[in-house]
Amino acid sequence: MECLSETRAAQDEVVDIDVAVRESNIQDVLGELDAELIGLLPVKLRIRQIASLLLVEKFRKQMGLCADPPSLHMCFTGRPGTGKTTVAMRMAKLLHRLGYVRRGHLVVATRDDLVGQYVGHTAPKTKEILQKAMGGVLFIDEAYYLYRAENERDYGQEAIEILLQFMENRRDDLVVILAGYKERMDSFFLSNPGLHSRVAHHIDFPDYSLEELIEIAELMARQQMYAFDEDSRAAFREYLQLRTAQPHSANARSVRNAIDRIKLRQAVRLVEQGGRVVKQELARIDAVDIRQSRVFQGGLDGAAADSPAKAPQCQGDR
Ligand SMILES: Nc1ncnc2c1ncn2[C@@H]1O[C@H](COP(=O)(O)OP(=O)(O)O)[C@@H](O)[C@H]1O
Ligand SMILES: [Mg+2]
Repeated sequence: MECLSETRAAQDEVVDIDVAVRESNIQDVLGELDAELIGLLPVKLRIRQIASLLLVEKFRKQMGLCADPPSLHMCFTGRPGTGKTTVAMRMAKLLHRLGYVRRGHLVVATRDDLVGQYVGHTAPKTKEILQKAMGGVLFIDEAYYLYRAENERDYGQEAIEILLQFMENRRDDLVVILAGYKERMDSFFLSNPGLHSRVAHHIDFPDYSLEELIEIAELMARQQMYAFDEDSRAAFREYLQLRTAQPHSANARSVRNAIDRIKLRQAVRLVEQGGRVVKQELARIDAVDIRQSRVFQGGLDGAAADSPAKAPQCQGDR
């Protein structure tokens, strides 16, 4: 334990919380989180709680009120496109601001990045990813694929054991976030109680409501300097009602993909129309740009493009 009784401060010693909050800039990160992510109130609340806890923990340590460092491994459950990866990236930034991790980057991995194909292949693979994530956050997407109940000699078990060691012994410099569908994650934890006991925070990401998806679309459009008008707003609402009733609807990811396709149709419309256009027209989304979607004829609008990406990525280290 780091703080010895001689360093223990007197009972009436003071710390300035305002100064620490200002210096850590955590309000910026929390503010961005509020402004740039629609809804997710329970998620935002939990992040605030964790941030406050870490800040207070720092003071407690300074004053000699020491305890084991808090465990920060997390589990994010929710369907595709509910914001899990995005929030993980913000979490990494926040933990960095609070001095909990050295670098604050996010490494995204899936089973294929951790588990090898033959004997002796898994340990070096898993360790390589863990090393890459040191000083930041390791986000394991669809973590339950690490465990195959039907095959007890599956190499996934080896990856889980190494992961457990790092989660326990290196937790002052690495935060692991396991992510995936809620039901699958629940049964994964039932088969892996050791993992479950090391995950301190279980955060559920609910599906977005129609109103939230519309707000997300407005926000995404605004961020890219596009704007709906009254007709296109109404068309987009209809589009979303049809789209969310279809299979493979992926919450905010479907909205992002829909906007990408809307931009393509708007561009074609403007080019075909030709002539001189004013700035406002370059930004404006017209209802036709939306109504051309196959969703209005009962078809799928690029459903495949809405499925989660599988490739390993390293994000946030910029
Ligand atoms: N609450 C939100 N507000 C605005 N954009 C969001 C929100 N949630 C997700 N997004 C956007 O939707 C897309 C998919 O989100 P992502 O974090 O990849 O979801 P998941 O990891 O749960 O599949 C990203 O482009 C992200 O920025
Ligand atoms: Mg994701």
